[in-house]
This record gives sequence, structure tokens and C-alpha cells, in this order.
Amino acid sequence: HLIERVALDIALDPEATRVRARLKVRPNPAAQSPMPARTLVLDGEGLALEAIKLSGRRLGSEAYELTSQALIIHDIPDRAFTLEITSVCNPSANKALSGLYRSRGIYCTQCEAQGFRRLSYFLDRPDVLAVYETRIEAHRDEAPILLSNGNRLARGRLAGGRHFALWHDPHPKPSYLFALVGGDLAVVRDRFVTMSGRRVRLEIYVEPGKEDRCAWAMECLKRAMRWDEEKFGREYDLDTFMIVAVSDFNMGAMENKGLNIFNDKLILASPETATDETYAAIESVIAHEYFHNWTGNRITCRDWFQLCLKEGLTVFRDQEFSADVRSGVVQRIDDVRRLKAHQFPEDAGPLAHPVRPEKYIEINNFYTATVYQKGAELCRMIRTIVGDEGFRKGMDLYFERHDGEATTVEAFIACFEDATGCDLAQFMQWYRQAGTPELVARFTYDPKARAAMLDVEQVLLPTPGQARKRPLHIPLALGLVGPDGRDLPLKLAGGERVADGVLHLTRRRQSFRFVDVPARPVPSLLRGFSAPVNLTIDLSDGELLFLMGHDSDLYNRWQAAETLALRLASRITAAIRAGKQARPGLAYARTLGELLADEALEPAYRARLLTLPSEAEIARHIGRDVDPGAIHRARRRLMALVARALYHPLVAAYEAAATPGPYSPDAASAGRRALGAAVLQLLAATGRKAEVARVARHYARARSMTERTAALGLLVDIKGPERERALTDFYRRFKDDHIVIDKWFAFQAISALPETLETVAALTRHELFSIRNPNKVRALVGAFAMSNPLQFHRPDGAGYAFVAERVLEIDRFNPQLAARLLSAFKSWKVLEPVRQRLARQQLRRIARRKTLSRDVYDIVTRMLA
Ligand code: TRP
Ligand code: ZN
Repeated sequence: HLIERVALDIALDPEATRVRARLKVRPNPAAQSPMPARTLVLDGEGLALEAIKLSGRRLGSEAYELTSQALIIHDIPDRAFTLEITSVCNPSANKALSGLYRSRGIYCTQCEAQGFRRLSYFLDRPDVLAVYETRIEAHRDEAPILLSNGNRLARGRLAGGRHFALWHDPHPKPSYLFALVGGDLAVVRDRFVTMSGRRVRLEIYVEPGKEDRCAWAMECLKRAMRWDEEKFGREYDLDTFMIVAVSDFNMGAMENKGLNIFNDKLILASPETATDETYAAIESVIAHEYFHNWTGNRITCRDWFQLCLKEGLTVFRDQEFSADVRSGVVQRIDDVRRLKAHQFPEDAGPLAHPVRPEKYIEINNFYTATVYQKGAELCRMIRTIVGDEGFRKGMDLYFERHDGEATTVEAFIACFEDATGCDLAQFMQWYRQAGTPELVARFTYDPKARAAMLDVEQVLLPTPGQARKRPLHIPLALGLVGPDGRDLPLKLAGGERVADGVLHLTRRRQSFRFVDVPARPVPSLLRGFSAPVNLTIDLSDGELLFLMGHDSDLYNRWQAAETLALRLASRITAAIRAGKQARPGLAYARTLGELLADEALEPAYRARLLTLPSEAEIARHIGRDVDPGAIHRARRRLMALVARALYHPLVAAYEAAATPGPYSPDAASAGRRALGAAVLQLLAATGRKAEVARVARHYARARSMTERTAALGLLVDIKGPERERALTDFYRRFKDDHIVIDKWFAFQAISALPETLETVAALTRHELFSIRNPNKVRALVGAFAMSNPLQFHRPDGAGYAFVAERVLEIDRFNPQLAARLLSAFKSWKVLEPVRQRLARQQLRRIARRKTLSRDVYDIVTRMLA
């Protein structure tokens, strides 16, 4: 059946909100069976059913069945009919933050993926598109602001101090995009004139008193709206665009039609309270949710298996936006680092799944790095394959052909094939096959023949449920860097030129012979990270140093530095474990020093070069028998080595990075601060007294949250009075700010000090902590489990036990949050045997609980399989 019109009448009340839904239902003409079904199964969860009327007639209890998940109505007509269902839910008791709930007194909804059914009985699936009319009423004092999707048609006062608002959204939409907000909110207004000259009202709703922290979000919104017009020809389609910031939220933000709802930490920013990273995150999430209006809302998903259709594509679009308004290469480096830090381990572990999964127990568990980030990489590869112009043509065709539909990945891919004539049949395999391909390359040069050979093999390792894999279409961007540092022409034997510097791998093994190569080059492979693969090529340390210094592809210059650093860190780790002396990386440090001094490179880029790979990245590079303790020490050693080798230039760079004048969040200023912070981190790694004092001074003189946290993040690892003074000061300044104080929790949770777990456990009893608030849980328990490998992986297993207990505790009221926290164990199988055993014990302990949520059950069983 289809539902074409929905009229909701919602009477807000903290404990008993009454929802009357009038639905226009009709048999789906495209249904498979020849006869219209005579039973209708509506989804519904946690609702108290009050009454049902079918085409105006009240149904007796014999006419329907009620289960904990569904309302089954028998003997429905074989043509169109109306249903009127009245039910009651309890927003105050809703701590799962799905459906209708209250956050700091604000009523709000979260309907993706399957939350609408906790508000009303419905066909809660994304291919049922309806026009919604929503009447909300509430007590005026409790909820002076009443919002829903679309345009407001009316509002007015009612008896008993109540009032109402009537909203109408003309765009048919799936239930997951429905939203409602009610509460005492302040509004910041602006406007935007679209490319066709239509005026759009922009409104950001926040807690009263926070209006002055919305300016950045508003600017970002206008930039994103303009960018989507210029880059994709997409215009906004309602008279008002609203954003509401709430404090209790399971994720970052939600793209409800015309009424985005955000986690407030991704809206509110001021120089004193938000770091440069927060400013950048706000920019990217505002853009992401706004871009969903076309990729997600106007064109939505036929079913939840197609989730990457909207998420991968929208992440790709927000990455491109950030690259355009900031620095392209720095954005690419950050995006690839994020991909490798989160998605690659997922793809290599027990939770690996294709970008388009083939089955799920709980869809909420598939809002993953694979669907989002690898999904974005697939869109990027399509662009590489069809070219910029072809990509735009394909996107135009997609918007033209599928506007107003709920569609599929196949339909999306067909648009690029039809618009450009490219064959993407083999490329589709990327959506079906899990696992990160290994690309093993061998490069040889024959000086007599003036020819170079590149042999590449795709190794596709098995993943859960997929033993054998087919070769993929992998776009391999490359260059051959000549001895003078310049790219040599890419000419294949047979005279063919390599178009756009991209080779197309389509078979398991392929060889390419380059001719007219005058001197031995160093191959620069996978430029710009042209495909989400693990590349192995046996370049010497010297060749990596050469690429670091000379590659014309700035991304690959950074990648060469990263690869070399990972190599050095792995060697030092192995030496530590074997009780041997490690070989130093002096040449690496020297080249870093040259790059640090290179004023032609933007500061943000130099900051990325100077930031050594994280412990998690080193662990991933090592890959098996991982000892997080040894990795931590190795990384410290490598930093200290670089810092001592470059001591004087670093001190000079630190002093030069100090930016006079007022704080500005723009990318160039942020880049200078990032360089200062990267340098400070290296200086601190020397462990010298004078450097600890420098960090303490950095804290004391901080004029922005960016500078303050740069220092605090270092001080928390250094036992002593400086640390305690800074933490106390931070607490005193920000204890009344529920967003900023999360940093105070997080910094203590990521400390390398041995008593960190005990501190974290004590902080769960702090008066400002609340286990019911996802931001608090992520700041304290999440940061400990995901960003403190040293202490989470304590050799005694106490870190695992603590996190497992929190998972079980949280699972009783917020399964989504519990399941996310549990994914901190996703790489447990690569650990050395002792830790592996301790981690398994905790996973088994979770699995033994009889009353697990579907969310946690799904993750823990896959993890142990
Ligand atoms: N669609 C949202 C986005 O990508 C994310 C999302 C999915 C979400 N499910 C959610 C957000 C549940 C909050 C709660 O932006
Ligand atoms: Zn999204």
C-alpha cells in the first residue's frame, strides 16, 4: 500500500503526547500480487493505541491485532480509504532519542531510520512518499515555538493557555524526514536570495542566550547554499530553511525537510568556546545536511540497503565543498586520514560489510564509516573515471530523471553510463564487495631500453560472508618523478598516452610498459589517493625521502612522509618489543625540517606534515599482533627524535606562528594556529622542563579555545602542577557551559597517565556528567575507548571491562549509543594474544546478557563470529 497524504494532529504533553494521524491509503498499483492485499501491517513501537477509524467508522478490537512492533488491520477495502489512528506516547520517558523526546525541555523528533513508528502507526519505510500537514498544539509557556517541515499556514491561541501552529510540506517525503520541534527557543534570522531570485528565510533556533554563537553556522549555511547552486545547479525549494540546535542527540545532525535538527555542539561557536576544528566541523556538517535536500530528500532511497545512495554521495559533496572553501590538498589529507583511521579497520575486521549491505539485523548499525566514507570514495572514483564534465552531466541526469523518487544505486550508476557512454558494470562491484583491496605494485627500470615496467596485482582478501572476490575497476592516478623532481611524460608502449595520468586496473594482474623514459624515475602511485586501497610498493627510504621533497602531487608528498613515519614507528615498535635499540630516522627529520622551512607550502599543509601518525594509524600499519603499549612508546620516541633534531627551527617556527590581532576562524588563520600547535607538540615531546613551561605559558596566554586546547591536550599527559592548574582553571571557566565542559571530560579521558581509567570511572560520578546524554558519554567513555589506545588496552584488561559495563548499562535505555560504543572493540582480533583474550572475555560477557537490544546483539554477535 501507499500513503499519499498524512494529516497529523499532535498535542504536546511531557508525559502523554496524543497523536491523531489521518492517512490516505491506497493499494500500490506497482505491487507484485494481482489482488490488493486485504490486511495492512503498520509499524508502531511503544505507543498506546486509543482508537482506529477506517473511512470514518470506528474499528472494534476484533478488526485488528496489536503486537509490540505492529498494528495489523484485517479486511481493509480493495480501493483507497482513510485511516484515522489516535495513539499516545511519552516523550519524557524516551531516553533512546528516537521518535519524540525532550532535550533540556525542548520537544524534538528523530525519525531516521525507523523512529517515526515511535510517534505514530505508519508504513515506516523510505519508499512511501506522502505530503504532510501537521498541526501541533502545546502549552504556550512550555512551548512558545512550534515547528515542523515546510511552510506555516496558520497559528493561534487556544483555551487554557494553549496555542497551535499548522504546517504544510508540499514536497512528498518518506516518514524518516518528518520533524517536529516545540519549546522555548530563541531565533537568529537571515535571508538568502536563490539563483532564480527567490527569497528564502533562514532561521536558526537555539537555547535563549546562545544567539551570539550562531553567526558562523549562518555564514556556513549561506556559503553552502550558494555552492550547491554554482557547482551542481541545485536551488533551495521552500520559502524557509530552519535549523534547530538540541543538546541530546544520537549523532551529528539530521536533514529533515526544511527543518534540520543539529547536535548543538555542531551549531554553537565563538572564539572562546570553539576550536578551529569545531569551526571546520560546523562548516562541513551544515553543508552536509543542506546538501541532503537534493541528495537524500528530493531523491531518496528505495530501501535502507541503498543508504549509501544518499550518504556516500552527500559526504562526497560536503568534502568537495570544504575543499573549495578551504585548501583542497589539506582537505584531501584530512579526509583520507579519517578514512584510514575509521573505515579501513572496519573493512579489515569482523564488522566488514559492503558499501551497500545485503542484509542487516538493525539498520542503525549501518550508519558506518563504510557507508559514509567509503561510499564517498566510490563517488569520487566515478568522477575520476568519467571526468569532471561527465560527472556533472551524470549528476544533472540523475536530478532530472529521479527527482521525487525513492531510488537505487543501480539507477544512480546508470545516469553516469547514459550521460557519458562509460561502462560502469565492473565498477558496480565496489558496492557489493567488502574489504579494502591490497594493491601490490612492482616497479623496474631498464636504462638500456629507456623503459620502465609497472606490474600491479589486486589482492582481495576474504571478508565475513564473502570468501571469493572478483577483480575491481581501480583508477590508479600516477606520475613518474624524474631525477630533477619533475614529472616525466607518461607514454605507454604502443604509443598510447595515459589520459589524465590515470591507469585503469580491471584485472587481477596487469603490467604497463612505459617507453621513452630518459632516466630512472621514482614512481608516485595513487596520487590524490585515487582509490580506497592499501598500496604496497617497495620504495626505499631514500626514494620516499625524494618524493617527500619533490613530488608535484602535494597529496603524495604528504603520503610519502606518512609512509616513512609509519615505517620508522613500526621499526621502533619492533625494537622495543625485542628489547633492542632502534635505528633512528635522522634523514626523515632532516627532510621534515626542509619542508617546515618551505614558505611556499601553506601553513596548514606543513602542520599536517609535522603531525606524526597517530597510535591507531601505526597499529593499523603493523596490522597484527598489536601491542598498544609498545606503539605508544615508539611514537613518543620518534617525536622526541624529530624534536631534538629540529629543535632550533622548531622554536623559531613556534615563535613565528604566534598570530597577532583578533581571532578569525578562516582557514588561513586556522592553518597558522595548526602549525603552531604541531610544533608545540613536537617541542613538548622533548620532555624538557623549559618545554613543559612553554606549554603551560601557551595555556595561560591563550586567547582562543584553539590555543587553550592545544596546550591542555599536551598538559594532560604530563604529571605535575602545570597539569592540575590548567585543568582546574578550565573547569572554573567553563563549568556552566554544557558544551565546552565536555572537552574537560574528554581531555582527562585521553590522558596517557596510568591512573586515567580510575579518573574516568570517578568522573562518571561527577555532578556534571550524565550517562543519559550522548555527548557526555562520547566525551568521557567514548574518548577513552576510541581515542586512548594506551589506556583502553591496558594489559590487565580493566579498560575493556569498564567499557563493557558501560555498554551494558547504556543498552538498557539507548541501544544506538550502546552499539556505537561497543564498536570500540572492532579491531580486537589484531591484538597480541593476551589482550585479545581479555577483550574476547568482555565481548562474551556482553553476549551472555539475555535482554540485549537488537543493536548490541547484532554488533556483538558479528564481532565474535
Ligand atoms: N542522516 C543523518 C546524516 O547523515 C544521520 C542520521 C542517521 C542520524 N540516523 C540518525 C542522526 C539518528 C541522528 C540520529 O546527517
Ligand atoms: Zn548524511
